Amino acid sequence: MKYILTLLFFSTLVLEAKYLDNHSCKECHEEIYKEFESSAHAKSFFNDELHRKVALHVSKKKYECAICHMPMANNLKDLINGKARPNPKNVTQSDAISCYFCHTIAYVKKAHKFNLNQKAKQAKNYKPSFFANLKNPDENDKHSSLHNPIYSKVACIGCHSHKLNDLNVTIFKATKENQNSKSCIKCHMPYIKGGAEKINKRARMQHKSHKFLGIRDAAFRKKGVDINITTTKDGFNIVLKNKMGHPLIIQPARVKYLQILVKDGNKTIWQNYKKQPSEDKQGYFAINFKKDGKNIVIPNLATSMNQNNLEANSTKTLHYKCQKIKDATKIEVNFFVKLAKDNCLKIINLKDKSFNKAMLIKKVEKTLNK
Ligand code: HEC
Ligand code: HEC
Ligand code: HEC
Ligand code: HEC
Ligand code: HEC
Repeated sequence: MKYILTLLFFSTLVLEAKYLDNHSCKECHEEIYKEFESSAHAKSFFNDELHRKVALHVSKKKYECAICHMPMANNLKDLINGKARPNPKNVTQSDAISCYFCHTIAYVKKAHKFNLNQKAKQAKNYKPSFFANLKNPDENDKHSSLHNPIYSKVACIGCHSHKLNDLNVTIFKATKENQNSKSCIKCHMPYIKGGAEKINKRARMQHKSHKFLGIRDAAFRKKGVDINITTTKDGFNIVLKNKMGHPLIIQPARVKYLQILVKDGNKTIWQNYKKQPSEDKQGYFAINFKKDGKNIVIPNLATSMNQNNLEANSTKTLHYKCQKIKDATKIEVNFFVKLAKDNCLKIINLKDKSFNKAMLIKKVEKTLNK
């Protein structure tokens, strides 16, 4: 077995098996297909306006983003070098982070700028082999199945670990050295009801969700952070605990911020900012970029970066001075996210205004009895 796997991984004599597109999986994996279609992994240059506009700002010729955003493209090198442009009619591109791509990741090469997914070589004209973790999967005529213990360790970190720009500035860093994908899968791919395949001969009761829930799901995004309010002599503390296996902010277009209202009945008598949430430096979590000392929005051109962030599995106490707290005053904390910061909007003209809409992550209230 080991010998066969080695052959599959390293042999240079074999060529790609025929690409099986996302839609072809629907015939048997209907539920998983629907989940995937609703997920961020089905988004691409063609249907994600934020991504497309940022990409066009970076370069109108070269599409280097393809390596993570449309990794199955049959003309990947040409896209990267600027010899070809994204084409919505090419299914290997519009399939985005495709089923086939994810399930043929054999290992990940660690690298400075970003990690690289290494795919299993598939024999030409044979049915492809897919990696996953079902125990004794049923036979089928479309693919063979390989339980590969490496797979679940590396499945996510080929794209999600980190990315640096050409000037060595970190654009995002989600994982620590030696962190693997198992915890990502545990939180982002929980078991949900129903078999992994339509006929379900083995009468499986559950499968791993392929919705890859994230910030856009109201129930899921509540789970990331705990918020606690305690009073002090001169005001109060907000204690934030990041329970996630990564920093609070990964994606640099995003901002997460606190709106804190001290209320006497229905009347707000104190707030942590007047107009802009960014006035409250400690409660405004974002990654910011500079080029030669000036603030910029597009990270690829940055010469430096700074951030107010909260590391994985860590706690931060924010202290607010406030003299207005008496008996029976209420503190209301609203934690919001915007997918695109206000200053992004000034640079990239987004038609879909929902990118800049504040979405509530979580609301916490406390009535004080001093
Ligand atoms: C090393 C892999 C990698 C490369 C290269 C890459 N990205 Fe991404 N990108 C990601 C990952 C992973 C996410 C999801 C992270 C998240 O949402 O926090 C993402 C998310 C995004 C988002 C947010 C999408 C949304 O709607 O929330 C934008 C915008 C984006 N990328 C733009 C780009 C552009 C433009 C390029 C090319 C200049 C690029 N990326 C290159 C890995 C990459
Ligand atoms: C003709 C039906 C059929 C088609 C089409 C099909 N599959 Fe499957 N697949 C199956 C069956 C049957 C199983 C085993 C399910 C079980 O044991 O519960 C399976 C299992 C799997 C597994 C689990 C493997 C393991 O070792 O754990 C993966 C991953 C998978 N399929 C991916 C895909 C992808 C990706 C596509 C589309 C490119 C696809 N399949 C198309 C029938 C199909
Ligand atoms: C081929 C690269 C690639 C691989 C492998 C990959 N992702 Fe992603 N992922 C992305 C990109 C790119 C996006 C953003 C797509 C967009 O919005 O345009 C993304 C988005 C996400 C999001 C949405 C986050 C949010 O809040 O918006 C989650 C969750 C996620 N990925 C989890 C995972 C998990 C878990 C794994 C491993 C099982 C994984 N990803 C493997 C590239 C990848
Ligand atoms: C303990 C559960 C947990 C673990 C472990 C975890 N995540 Fe998350 N992740 C979440 C939750 C909840 C959110 C949505 C809330 C938020 O972003 O504030 C999220 C958000 C994200 C986002 C969007 C971040 C952004 O900038 O808004 C990405 C991308 C992501 N996760 C990928 C991963 C990857 C990759 C791993 C593995 C290294 C992982 N997650 C591990 C719970 C988890
Ligand atoms: C971002 C990577 C990614 C994408 C995209 C993806 N999968 Fe998976 N899939 C996984 C991982 C990781 C597992 C194994 C989870 C585990 O058990 O640890 C898995 C498991 C499975 C299984 C076995 C079911 C189970 O309960 O373990 C099937 C079948 C499957 N995938 C089919 C598909 C199909 C069909 C698509 C496209 C419609 C798809 N996958 C897209 C990462 C992916």
